[in-house]
Amino acid sequence: MTGRRPRTRCGRCREKAVIELRRHSVAFCKDCFLVYCRSQVTKAIEKYDMLAPGDRVLVAVSGGKDSLALWDLLIQLDWRADGLYLGLGIGGYSDRSGEGCAEFAASRGVTLVRHDLATEHGFTIPQAAGPPTSSRRGKGAAGGRSSCSVCGLSKRYVFNSTALAGGYDVVATGHNLDDEAAVLFGNTMRWDTVSMKRQFPVLQATRPGLIKKVKPLYRLAERETAAYCVLTGIDYIVEECPLVAGNTQMRHKETLNAMEEEVPGSKHEFLFGYLERASHLLEEADDHELTACARCGMVTQVPADGEQPVCAFCRTRARMAIQLEQAPPRGQAPPLEAAQAAGAPATAPAAAAEVTG
Ligand code: AMP
Ligand code: FES
Ligand code: ZN
Repeated sequence: MTGRRPRTRCGRCREKAVIELRRHSVAFCKDCFLVYCRSQVTKAIEKYDMLAPGDRVLVAVSGGKDSLALWDLLIQLDWRADGLYLGLGIGGYSDRSGEGCAEFAASRGVTLVRHDLATEHGFTIPQAAGPPTSSRRGKGAAGGRSSCSVCGLSKRYVFNSTALAGGYDVVATGHNLDDEAAVLFGNTMRWDTVSMKRQFPVLQATRPGLIKKVKPLYRLAERETAAYCVLTGIDYIVEECPLVAGNTQMRHKETLNAMEEEVPGSKHEFLFGYLERASHLLEEADDHELTACARCGMVTQVPADGEQPVCAFCRTRARMAIQLEQAPPRGQAPPLEAAQAAGAPATAPAAAAEVTG
């Protein structure tokens, strides 16, 4: 240990500090920290042209610290931002998350759009994950996809379709610096250049049917969004999703945190170095041709085998319909698209694109 003394005075105003940001070699008092958070989000928005004046923003909110901090910051910065909560059917965790979002919306007098996987699409994430005896991270009932993978697929699908139907210009998610660094770390470990290419603070709507996606919190660390909520009195859901415990991304976060402890700024350097100096090298990594899904009309990849294009979400939904028809769950809405399911392939193709990938 170096015996380094923590900074106790705010680097902006010299008042007593409430938080130290070692990677920036600075500490802040409450007011100056809130100014810092707003300025980091403004910087992110401006650097990548995330939002334009008059844009209608749909903020995807989970009830956790990141997405509620993001929604609050966008409101503070005078953006027109509605929230979107998707019920994933993960027992009490989902119930409490939905309630947390609704309470936040009521407290700010803003609109929350709510959707629900079970009632609208006929399956929940735990059902897609399979019985509890199988590994949580293992391949679930959804034909070769893990629970987190079906969850991500479903969220991307519903975010995009809700934004399209509601006439929103852009979807904003609460991914922070730690999330982005951990995902980049995983993608780099596998040299998954296609995923690396797609991992950017802004994804443009490159064709009709796709909505622009932005991550205005990519400059703020997880610890900072938590501090923002505590200091502004945002009552966020502290519990983590029970299905993600011990997943790969969590382990990557732990590895990066150990490095950050030794060398403050490691995560920042890793992520920002990639975005600023390396991401352009991957421009040609993701050149999949896109088309409309034959079932739902959303954007998907052109199949290599000349088959009818069916997006990954429609394939999952069809597979779950068959599965649940065979073993109807207790108290569960009947599957909506059993008829469609008849043509569902037995396994999911490894790569799925854009909206549903
Ligand atoms: P995660 O994939 O759980 O790390 O969440 C990443 C981002 O997706 C969050 O910051 C939210 O913006 C959004 N999100 C996660 N879960 C939900 C949900 N159930 N409903 C709406 N948005 C969500
Ligand atoms: Fe997606 Fe838990 S929130 S698997
Ligand atoms: Zn589809």
